[in-house]
Amino acid sequence: MYLPQCCSVSPNGRLLMDGLDVADIAREYGTPLYLMSEESIVSACRLFTDTLKAAYPGQSVTAYASKALSCKYILSLARREGLWADVVSGGELYTALAAGFDPRNIIYHGNNKTEGELTYALASGVGYFVADSTRELYLLDELSGKAGARPDVALRLKPGIEAHTHEYVQTGKIDSKFGIPMETDEALRAAEIAAGMKNISLAGLHCHIGSQIFISEPFVCAAQTLLRFAGQTGLPLRDVNIGGGFGIRYTDSQTPEDISAMLAAAANAVVLAAGEQGLPLPRLMCEPGRSVVGPAGITLYTVGGVKHIPGVRTYVSVDGGMTDNIRHALYGAEYTAALAERMREPPDAAVTIAGRACESGDLIGTNMPLANAKPGDILAIFATGAYNYSMASNYNRVPRPPIVVARGGRAEAVVRRETYEDLTRCDL
Ligand SMILES: Cc1ncc(COP(=O)(O)O)c(C=O)c1O
Repeated sequence: MYLPQCCSVSPNGRLLMDGLDVADIAREYGTPLYLMSEESIVSACRLFTDTLKAAYPGQSVTAYASKALSCKYILSLARREGLWADVVSGGELYTALAAGFDPRNIIYHGNNKTEGELTYALASGVGYFVADSTRELYLLDELSGKAGARPDVALRLKPGIEAHTHEYVQTGKIDSKFGIPMETDEALRAAEIAAGMKNISLAGLHCHIGSQIFISEPFVCAAQTLLRFAGQTGLPLRDVNIGGGFGIRYTDSQTPEDISAMLAAAANAVVLAAGEQGLPLPRLMCEPGRSVVGPAGITLYTVGGVKHIPGVRTYVSVDGGMTDNIRHALYGAEYTAALAERMREPPDAAVTIAGRACESGDLIGTNMPLANAKPGDILAIFATGAYNYSMASNYNRVPRPPIVVARGGRAEAVVRRETYEDLTRCDL
């Protein structure tokens, strides 16, 4: 069974995270509960910064894509590890600033940033924006002028590369709401327009080609495409940002390449392509989210009802579900499940793990091998550190779970559980 690196099993079959008994923590803090390994997050941050330092002869920046998990604790940790922050909303920006980020190390993204958000970001001193359209360039120039600022701006390009797990296609034309099209001359025009603007400084090029990418090739292709485009513009572009999307493992059957191998291949491609284009080495930037926090997290639930429908399926119901993990309901994401106190028991059946929300689609997964689950068991779902808490909701007026972190041999809450009072806080 797939177990993330931060987890192990004690001789008596109990699940441990960094040596701590996971079921004991679940009983102390209650369920549902997000439990995270600080060591795992720190080593993921260092994997990016160390790989870039070793594999890339120019300057490099790793920005943590905070959409994967945004809270003060995670952002402070990423900041202390020397990462920048990538934010896509006023709320993510607010959290990054509250976590002590220097606004000059914050990259503001988004395909439809509002005027209010841009004004807030400029007033906060955010030093770097990624523009998603020509319209946004004009807006940024105008608002920067009003704010007396001159931020760096990179163009988010749509390079016509569609990357999925083990494959990618170079269509030259993709249907996406993100990015400035390269298949027409719009991207070249945008670069010229941006370079001529008074209140912004055209700093570079950006793309993000997908998520859960398991192989190097799409990153290599993206790097080559951006460098070729930089050569075509004839403009002095300092930065090349290859985005995020580095894939992680959720189940036994998934076999992503090592992240360091994917990153090193992309870095090498930038060096070669810059040489081919006769360009100086750009500053190489990347924006991992999932791969920084995903493997570090597990979600713990208490099993409630177990319903056998002979010849059909067995439902194991838990006290959370789509309100804390919507990824299966949203796009069929797969996970690995285990009973935290009976890790050495072999799977009894392939079950469907059902949430508590009033939606038939509220499932954590189907066909999940699991030992014989009984009411009261603590059930663990692995690799839930990314896009779980950040996508959580209060559907059915269910309070969001806390985040507890294993660090220095003890468990500590870094986000508290929501209360019923929290749920009515905004009701007038
Ligand atoms: C622009 C951009 N950068 C970075 C990321 C992070 O991707 P991942 O969490 O797959 O690393 C995303 C994810 O949607 C993104 O849109």
